[in-house]
Amino acid sequence: MAEKTLILIKPDAVKVGNTGKILSIYEASGLKIVALRMLVMTRELAAKHYEEHIGKTFYSRLVDFMTSGPLAAAVLEGETAVAKARAVNGATDPLQAEAGTIRKLFAEDKTHNAVHASDSVKNAEREISIFFSEAEIFDI
Ligand code: CMP
Repeated sequence: MAEKTLILIKPDAVKVGNTGKILSIYEASGLKIVALRMLVMTRELAAKHYEEHIGKTFYSRLVDFMTSGPLAAAVLEGETAVAKARAVNGATDPLQAEAGTIRKLFAEDKTHNAVHASDSVKNAEREISIFFSEAEIFDI
């Protein structure tokens, strides 16, 4: 089975109408969208998704932002999907992001940075199960 990863298009990018452009960039990189939804994150959902960051200095800033408006969540599938989505995203800090990456194109700063992608296959499995049931992930 091909590798899967979770991506989130964050409230900053959704708000200014960059959802479709960002999904197109993932598709152009060879990744396939096999699940897709929009939602507003609750603080409880944010705590589950970002459990490894609880207690860090930026945590409350991160959760305030991630719960501030609708986001788009998607499962992307393809060879080395986890690494590929992270490469397409670029560095967390847009100042460090490489030319052509989503964060270089659309991110403002380390908090308002347009997208999230799982950082390992194990975390991808965990994060996908937070946002999608098995029945919502398609074999395309
Ligand atoms: P994301 O991929 O969603 O995973 C954790 C998020 O925490 C990260 O993107 C950033 O948006 C945020 N983050 C990480 N480090 C910092 C930081 N030093 N200051 C503010 N936000 C951060």
